[in-house]
Amino acid sequence: MSSETAQSLPAFVIRRGTPADAAALAEFGARTFRETFAADNTAEDMEKHLASAWSPSLQDAELRDPRLDTLLAVDSGGALAGFAQLRDEYAPACVPTRKPVELKRFYVDRPWQGRGLARELMAEVERAARRRGARELWLGVWERNERAQAFYRKCGFERVGTQIFVVGDDPQTDHVMLRKL
Ligand SMILES: CC(C)(COP(=O)(O)OP(=O)(O)OC[C@H]1O[C@@H](n2cnc3c(N)ncnc32)[C@H](O)[C@@H]1OP(=O)(O)O)[C@@H](O)C(=O)NCCC(=O)NCCS
Repeated sequence: MSSETAQSLPAFVIRRGTPADAAALAEFGARTFRETFAADNTAEDMEKHLASAWSPSLQDAELRDPRLDTLLAVDSGGALAGFAQLRDEYAPACVPTRKPVELKRFYVDRPWQGRGLARELMAEVERAARRRGARELWLGVWERNERAQAFYRKCGFERVGTQIFVVGDDPQTDHVMLRKL
């Protein structure tokens, strides 16, 4: 799981997260969420959401949870460049599946966007979902997050419905997207 530069040095590797990654993942997840969505949310909603979703103890629990897979893209200096989390648990009514696997989070740091890392991370996500026995993969993406929707369409996802995702006290509409594996 690596990407080679012209000099054949690995630019990044994708590996499974472990509890030792909890603090770095909490910092990275909160920062990338803030960078992506702060401009379109109130400071109060943003802080409330971040406090509910990102802390070393929360990510430690996620990294130990057998229902979750956490995949980390790590650069040549050991810093996080992106991550993905799959959850084997639940699907909304608009997703017809006998084995619901959700792409719960998918984030690539700004310097790495548009450089192919997201595609490689998605390929690992698909492999992890198949290992869980999934035939489909679904996700929710904010209706206003057009870059992510464009990326997911490139990866074969299609919109099948909507669901509500609450950021702080703000109920937001997500597009539910689905693809066959
Ligand atoms: C979503 C994300 C993983 C996609 O990775 P990426 O490396 O940026 O993806 P790509 O550049 O390969 O693809 C994005 C596509 O959207 C297009 N795009 C860029 N800005 C856009 C915009 N404002 N509106 C519509 N399309 C846009 C790009 O041109 C590109 O399409 P192209 O390859 O046909 O030119 C990454 O941008 C990211 O992590 N964003 C912040 C976090 C986030 O939103 N995560 C998803 C939460 S559901």
